[in-house]
Amino acid sequence: MNIKSTGNISSITFIVMFGFLFYTGLHEGLLGFTYCFADTLDSSKISNKRPVDLFTPEELQLYDGGLDSKGLYLAFLGKVYDVREGAQHYKPSGGYSFFAGRDATRAYVTGDFSDEGLIDDVKGLSNEEMMGINNWMEFYDSEYVYVGKVVGRYYDKDGHPTQALQDALAAIEKAKANKRDEAEEKQIFPPCNSEWSAEKGGRVWCSNKSGGIDRNWIGVPRKLYRPGETEPRCACVRTSGPPSGSSDTTEHENRGDLDSPLLKEYPNCSPESVTCSLSP
Ligand code: HEM
Repeated sequence: MNIKSTGNISSITFIVMFGFLFYTGLHEGLLGFTYCFADTLDSSKISNKRPVDLFTPEELQLYDGGLDSKGLYLAFLGKVYDVREGAQHYKPSGGYSFFAGRDATRAYVTGDFSDEGLIDDVKGLSNEEMMGINNWMEFYDSEYVYVGKVVGRYYDKDGHPTQALQDALAAIEKAKANKRDEAEEKQIFPPCNSEWSAEKGGRVWCSNKSGGIDRNWIGVPRKLYRPGETEPRCACVRTSGPPSGSSDTTEHENRGDLDSPLLKEYPNCSPESVTCSLSP
C-alpha cells in the first residue's frame, strides 16, 4: 500500500526493521510470542450502561490483543475496528502493536510512534497528510470489521459525530479538492524535465511527455509562481492557441498561456527556447 511517512529517522528505521521482519517471518521465530486473547468478555471491565458499540478510551485499551485482553481492536478517526485478521501486525509482538487498543490516527502520517505522537488529534496536519489520513480511513473501512465508536474527540457520549470529526472530514475534503486543483494545474502547466550535474550545473527543458503529462504540444520553460507558495516551480507553457480557460472562438493573441501573470522567464534564456540552463 502507498504509505506516506514524514517520520523521523529512528521511527523509519524501526518500521523498516519490522517491514523486513514481516517479509522474512523472522519476528515470529525470534520473539517466540504466540498470539492469543480470551474469547469471552469480562463484564466487570466493561460498563454496560451504553450501547455496546461505544467505547471509552479506557475500555478500548482492554482490546490490545494481550493475553488477558478482550480482543484485538484499534480505532481510526474515532471508529473502532476488529483487527484480528491482521493480528500478525497488531498483536503485542507485532511491528504495529502500538496501534492496538487506541486511536492513534495522527501517528499514521507523522510516523511519531512515541506516547506523545500516538494520539487521535489531526488538527494542523497538511493537505498531503490529510490525504494520508483519508487513505488509511478507506483502508480500515475496506479491510476490517467496524465494531463501534470511541467516545471522546470524534463521537459524543451518544455516539453522535462531534465538531472535531466534522472539521477533520472537512479538512480531508479540502485536501482532496487541493489534489484535484493540482492535477488540473499540471495539465495546463506540466512540470519541466530537469537535470543537474556538478560539471554542467542545472538544466530544465520541455518535451511532449514532461511531468508525466502526455500532450500534443511541447511548450517552453517558465518559472511558475503559484499563489501561496514562495518558491516557483518550472512549468512548460503552451505558446500558441487561446489562453487556457478561454475558447478558440474568443479573440486572442495566439500566444497560448505565455501571458499568464503567474509566469516569469528564466534569466539568460531565450523566451522561445525549449531548454534553459540554470544559473548557479
Ligand atoms: C508512517 C509510517 C508507517 C506506518 C504508519 C505504517 C503502518 C502500517 C500498518 C498499520 C500496517 C498493517 C496494515 C494491515 O492492517 O494490514 C503496515 C504493514 C506493513 N508495513 Fe508499514 N507503516 C509505515 C511505514 C513502513 C515502511 C517505511 C515500511 C518499509 C519497509 C513498511 C513496511 C510494511 C510491511 C512490509 C507491512 C506488511 C504488509 C503486508 O503484510 O501486506 N511500513 N504498515
